[in-house]
Amino acid sequence: MAKDLHLENIRREYSSLSLSRWDLPQDPFELVEKWLNQAIETQVNEPTAMLVGTATPEGRPSIRTVLLKEVLDGQFVFYSNYESRKGRQIAANPHVALTFLWHELERQIHVEGQIHRLSPEESDAYFAMRPYKSRVGARISPQSQPIPSREYIMMRFAAESLRFVGQTVPRPENWGGWAVVPERIEFWQGRDSRLHDRFLYERKEDGSWGIHRLAP
Ligand SMILES: Cc1cc2nc3c(=O)[nH]c(=O)nc-3n(C[C@H](O)[C@H](O)[C@H](O)COP(=O)(O)O)c2cc1C
Repeated sequence: MAKDLHLENIRREYSSLSLSRWDLPQDPFELVEKWLNQAIETQVNEPTAMLVGTATPEGRPSIRTVLLKEVLDGQFVFYSNYESRKGRQIAANPHVALTFLWHELERQIHVEGQIHRLSPEESDAYFAMRPYKSRVGARISPQSQPIPSREYIMMRFAAESLRFVGQTVPRPENWGGWAVVPERIEFWQGRDSRLHDRFLYERKEDGSWGIHRLAP
């Protein structure tokens, strides 16, 4: 029987920064860019890491971390295997949620919206920039499938590495990019006494953004 854990006393105040209505641009992507840049400059661990929440066709949620690779034309872009668990869920239900969490800055951003695949040409362009081993790895990993052993994947990796020595490693069709078009973006800045600052941008029918302060 696993032992109980008591974590009730692990708590701290969030007091280093604030976010006011006057800090907010009309276009939320200006603030996304500012916060991402500050996370990179602050040298937080994995500043571009984000949680991606998807759902099964039955509405059961599932979450994993990926790396944001681009913000393009108001869309959040990441890359993965289209036949992975998330890939199969996305194919059945294009509604997704993203969360960036930067502990060192006491900040998070939540995004909700719909996701679509990048074009094969766009995926090719990013794939070609990846290191050789990452390109080989993408080709041989049946991501999210059960495999018999670590040796199994190492053997596949070694064989595929040899196959492409001195050649361009082509992108497999089951690997590529997705872009999330946001409908909601919430900026959260931790404050004293759990009275955090939260601002929600909601996309209106005409494409502009409404801004609301939310209760902490
Ligand atoms: C920091 C971090 C970054 C990651 N980045 C990616 C990524 O960019 N793409 C990806 O496919 N998996 C990435 N992963 C692995 C995923 O979290 C996950 O294990 C994988 O995509 C399979 O998820 P799925 O079975 O839900 O489809 C990352 C994991 C961590 C911890």
